[in-house]
Amino acid sequence: MVFLINACSKSGGSDPVTPNPCASVTVTVTGNATPPSSSSASDGSITVTATGGSGFTFNINGGTFQSSGVFNNLAAGTYTITAKNSNGCTGSRQFTITSPSVCGGISISLSATTTSATPCGTPNGVITVTASGSTGFTYNINGGTFQSSASFNNLAAGSHTIIAKDANGCTATANVNVTAAPAGPLFSAVKQLMQTNCVSCHNASQSEGGMNWTVECNIVANSARIKARAVDQNPSVMPPTGPLPASEKDKITAWINAGAKFTD
Ligand code: HEC
Repeated sequence: MVFLINACSKSGGSDPVTPNPCASVTVTVTGNATPPSSSSASDGSITVTATGGSGFTFNINGGTFQSSGVFNNLAAGTYTITAKNSNGCTGSRQFTITSPSVCGGISISLSATTTSATPCGTPNGVITVTASGSTGFTYNINGGTFQSSASFNNLAAGSHTIIAKDANGCTATANVNVTAAPAGPLFSAVKQLMQTNCVSCHNASQSEGGMNWTVECNIVANSARIKARAVDQNPSVMPPTGPLPASEKDKITAWINAGAKFTD
C-alpha cells in the first residue's frame, strides 16, 4: 500500500501552494506631521518609520515608493503614508497636517491721534488711527461697520473702541479717549455772571421763560436771547429787578462778538 503523504508531490497534478510571506507580518507606520509655517504655505512635512520587516520604502497617497520616510513641501491636509518591506508587505497610516492659525504669526499694533470734542452742538471730536504689522486694513468704531478710512469724525468726548482688521480678518483693538475741549475764558466769564445774576430764577426746578442757566449748553444755545434781554433790554430787561452793570454787559457782548461758543 502506498500512502501519498507529500502534498507537494508533482504526482498530485496541482501547483504547489506558495506560502503568503505577509500572512503573519504586520507592517506598522509611525511618525509625525509638522505644520506649514503659515496657513498659506506648503512647507509642512511628515516623517515616518516602519516596523514589521526590513528594507522599507514609503509612498504618500499611493504615489511612487521612495526609500526616505520624509515627505516635504506639504500643505495642510490629510495624507496616507504606506510602508512596504522587502517582501512587499505593506501597512498604512493617515496623518493630518493642521494649518496654523491664520493670525498666529501676525501682530498688529494700533496707535491713534485725537482732536478733542467741543461740548454743546454737533459732536466734533476726531480720531485718526494708524495700524501696522499687516496689510489691507479696514477700521470700525464702537462695533460699527468697517470702513477703509482710518479717521472717525463727529465724535463725542469719551472712550471709543477702534478695531483695525487686516485682509485675513486678524484684528487689533484700542480704546481711544476723546477729551472734551475746555471752556473758553469769554464763555467762562458769562457763565460766572449768570451764576450770580440769573440762576435764581432760571434753574432746574424754576426755569422762567423755559430757561435753565445751570446747564452750560443752554447758555451757548440761547446766546442771542441772553444778549437781547440782558444787554439790549429787548423787549424788557433781565434780570427783571434791574439791568446788569456795564462791565457785566460787556462780558456778554465780548463773548457774542467772538462767536458765542463754549470754547471762546
Ligand atoms: C427775578 C427772576 C429772574 C432773574 C434773576 C432773571 N430772570 Fe430771566 N426771566 C424771568 C422771567 C419771569 C421770565 C419769563 C418772562 C419774560 O420772558 O420776561 C424770564 C425769561 C428769560 C428769558 C426767556 C425769554 C426770552 O426773551 O428769550 C431769557 C433769555 C432770560 N430770562 C434771560 C435772563 C438772564 C440772562 C438773566 C440774568 C442776567 C435773567 N434772565 C435773570 C425771571 C428772571
